[in-house]
Amino acid sequence: MQQQLKTSEMASYNRQDWVQGYKSQPQEYEYWIDDIEGQIPPDLQGTFFRNGPGLLDINGQKIHHPFDGDGMVCAIKFDNGKAHFCNKFVKTEGYVAEQKVGKILYRGVFGTQKPGGFLTNIFDLKMKNIANTNIIYWGGKLLALWEAAAPYRLDPSTLETIGLDDLDGVLKPGEAFAAHPRIERGKNGNGDRLVNFSVKVGLSSTITIFEFDSDGKLLHRHAHTFPGFAFLHDMVITPNYCIFFQNPVIFNPLRFILGLRGAAECIQFIPNHPTQVILIPRNGNQEEVKVLEADPCFVFHHANAWEDGGEVFVDSICYESFPNIDSGADFREINFDSLPAGELWRFRLNLQEEMVEKEVIESRCCEFPTLHPERVGESYRYLYIGAAEAASGNAPLQVILKIDLVTKERQIWSAAPRGFVGEPVFVPRNSCKSEDDGWLLVLMYDAANHRSDVVILDAVDISKGPVARLHLKHHIPYGLHGSFASNLLS
Ligand SMILES: [Fe+2]
Repeated sequence: MQQQLKTSEMASYNRQDWVQGYKSQPQEYEYWIDDIEGQIPPDLQGTFFRNGPGLLDINGQKIHHPFDGDGMVCAIKFDNGKAHFCNKFVKTEGYVAEQKVGKILYRGVFGTQKPGGFLTNIFDLKMKNIANTNIIYWGGKLLALWEAAAPYRLDPSTLETIGLDDLDGVLKPGEAFAAHPRIERGKNGNGDRLVNFSVKVGLSSTITIFEFDSDGKLLHRHAHTFPGFAFLHDMVITPNYCIFFQNPVIFNPLRFILGLRGAAECIQFIPNHPTQVILIPRNGNQEEVKVLEADPCFVFHHANAWEDGGEVFVDSICYESFPNIDSGADFREINFDSLPAGELWRFRLNLQEEMVEKEVIESRCCEFPTLHPERVGESYRYLYIGAAEAASGNAPLQVILKIDLVTKERQIWSAAPRGFVGEPVFVPRNSCKSEDDGWLLVLMYDAANHRSDVVILDAVDISKGPVARLHLKHHIPYGLHGSFASNLLS
């Protein structure tokens, strides 16, 4: 069995190719992209922002996990059929300090330690805000997000760092702002809304919900406390609820305190323990909070949620356990076969009977779901997601998969064998006629040329291949999340 999986792994990609995409990119660039296959649609107007770890080492000292890497933001501005590229590091306090001395000064949540063994790390619990997870433009501010701290604000035209931002006094000193806000496009006569959260963990965990209008003005803020340690990276919204999956994990911080492990390495999955589905009313009414039990699984990301009568549906990427890497191992050498693969599951929550049913929609290894932004919080037909080339087994993401959730039809665009894809971002056409009438923007790593491409796919039929492929002059390390801002250009 082990041998068969190895064979399938070798058929879809070469490990050395994959590893090259994790090389640091210390350079900052700014140029008009002139090496383009195909044609950039002239009506694609706006800026594609993407965030992710830019450094996988500090002056040769290796970062233990990519999630610990300093945030580097890319901006690809589309303007009348041309595209301009810019990347800059978020000049966080930690980035500036470490670059100045040329060595690791901070421990990372995912296991990066200061050189010198546990005695150098013991009792050092301060965290470096690496601002590396997401990037959004909201209320006139461009914000680099990291879930355990406040966002950093950047200048949207230059990507220069302005500084830590408390959202006009909304965030209290030390308060965090998660990296997964959900945006609801004007519903029921309301304007656009941004809903986000922060979590304070301990023996019990407190979730604070923030809801903003399109000017960035706070409309609602409410907090709710639940028993147990909650590892919450993402949430979904419906018109009435914010929905969280409390993963069945425990957190024993002893080895973190003693300087032996990163905080996230002290999280342990509890097999056969139900996942708690937490529904918090958007109106903040504590009496309407519901907690339901679902099959055990581990969730980083949700795709979408919606209400239908007395039921709520949630589509999520589920792992059968927490996919953590052995603390002694280098992530570049991970054995994919030893880690669970993400699958797309649909949960049907019956609020009256407090029952949850689950259905597997896609068992191919997949992550980073996206959809038409106007379908967030309501029923939807088309889901786009990064996936493995092979239909089974765990492997790096090399294809973009489109799933028609009504007909169950699939379309695939593959970058294999030497291409590796990140999160797709859906951009609707201005005169959008159907839910899939738009483009998908994907930053992919091309190992054959050790560079990255910005790939534009027609979301109606991704199997046709890219409408345009923009070759960058360099590579961008594998990233995390991004967004599209159409309102930056006048
Ligand atoms: Fe995420």
